[in-house]
Amino acid sequence: MDYITPLIYRKILDTISDIYDRSSKYEDTDLFRFKDVLDSFSEGQLVSKHWAVEELNKLINDSHEECIVIGSWHGLFSHMLAESGFKGKIINIELDKVCNDIARRLKIYDNIIFKLGDGIELFHELNYANKILVCTACEHIDAEELSFTLQQKHENMIVCLQSNNYYEVDSHINCHDTLEDFIKSLPLKNILYSGIKNHKNKYDRFMVIAK
Ligand SMILES: C[S@@+](CC[C@H](N)C(=O)[O-])C[C@H]1O[C@@H](n2cnc3c(N)ncnc32)[C@H](O)[C@@H]1O
Repeated sequence: MDYITPLIYRKILDTISDIYDRSSKYEDTDLFRFKDVLDSFSEGQLVSKHWAVEELNKLINDSHEECIVIGSWHGLFSHMLAESGFKGKIINIELDKVCNDIARRLKIYDNIIFKLGDGIELFHELNYANKILVCTACEHIDAEELSFTLQQKHENMIVCLQSNNYYEVDSHINCHDTLEDFIKSLPLKNILYSGIKNHKNKYDRFMVIAK
């Protein structure tokens, strides 16, 4: 898989080993984090982030100095974008402090930063000039809030959004039956790319890139 090197796997192994060690000493270290790290670098995650990086790289250029990632989990997308050659600042915004702590341990590139907060609320502070906005976790974000936020976006901003039809997960509050339904839910007129990837006959992942 492009954009994934042995160093990141070394860091993942060190991180999960550390989570295990800490869990034997401190009650507040939850072994669920062990599985969460593995899930965030699973085959499906690598494929969907690789897809986003490949399609975005066809559209972005040196004028795009900054990328904002909402719901960054452990920072996989930002890692792959930096590994693909993006030199601008990549700002990951994540609600969960522990995810950010883990993401900082896994970080390789200096142009990647992690901010704690609600990406929908912080978006307004970052919404200027021609940046890139990425959210591969739209299924976790309220449809109305996402739509309202996107209506405010700077006209030059390129947005790359992913959701899915994987309704079975409780935290998936914004799934869609089809790619067309996902597109209809978004207030975006200038669609530059849209596509579907099936994951192991379990669910479809949808991606929309628009301006
Ligand atoms: C389970 S993960 C990622 C799932 C998604 N399939 C992906 O590949 O990106 C979703 C992450 O989004 C974060 N999240 C959800 N809503 C958010 C928001 N409004 N702002 C920032 N982070 C958010 C969660 O804390 C979680 O770490």
